[in-house]
Amino acid sequence: MKIYIEDSYDKISEKAALIVAGRITVNPRSVLGLATGSTPIGMYKKLIDMYKRSIIDFSQITTFNLDEYYKLSRENRGSYYYYMMETFFNHINIPKENIHIPNGMADDIEKECREYEEKIDKAGGIDIQILGIGTNGHIGFNEPAENLNIRTGLIDLTENTIRDNSRFFEKKEEMPTKALSMGIVSIMKAKKIILLASGENKAEAIKNMTNGYINTNHPASILQAHRDCILIIDRDAAKLII
Ligand code: GLP
Repeated sequence: MKIYIEDSYDKISEKAALIVAGRITVNPRSVLGLATGSTPIGMYKKLIDMYKRSIIDFSQITTFNLDEYYKLSRENRGSYYYYMMETFFNHINIPKENIHIPNGMADDIEKECREYEEKIDKAGGIDIQILGIGTNGHIGFNEPAENLNIRTGLIDLTENTIRDNSRFFEKKEEMPTKALSMGIVSIMKAKKIILLASGENKAEAIKNMTNGYINTNHPASILQAHRDCILIIDRDAAKLII
């Protein structure tokens, strides 16, 4: 695992955007795995800017998002569908049919998860997977537990995550307690992984994911076994490892 420690959030966003843009330039048909949360917002802004300056083109790009809340409509401002449209997709030229986000409203959730995996495989797998990290070390919504999902599945969110993420909802009670998430192996199969983290509240999670052990109570620690995983973090997030 390569670790880049940057001076600012802006630098993290820039480095991540440059790596993604480089990949898109080399292969305009790249498949991107995308993340939500506050951390990748800066990277999305930089990519939009590069698109507007005609440096990159998304017309042949395919995307798969990591996760979505269970039983939350797309129109809800807290949904990851809403987030992705507002933050990124509405500002670039990606065809809508190339965008994939798990559907938490599907009647048959098992089928939805199975088909999601099949779609990733059919697209040829993910070239670059962007990840954030939960304060408890989750990636996607793979929460600390004795057993982790290999494939896309339905997950019970922990109290910690419900507390952290309720800030994205107008009323705290709206925050769902379950989510669909790509599984650990779905993530690990990506050819390249970029994990972004900023701020002191991520320092403990960063320490636990880089300590030389794989522990299912720190799901991100599995990334130490990935062949091409890059950590791009700021000094605050790196506080306990430098
Ligand atoms: C959510 C998402 C994760 C993300 C995490 C961190 O829980 N499911 O994919 O990494 O938030 O969010 P933030 O970047 O806002 O700290």
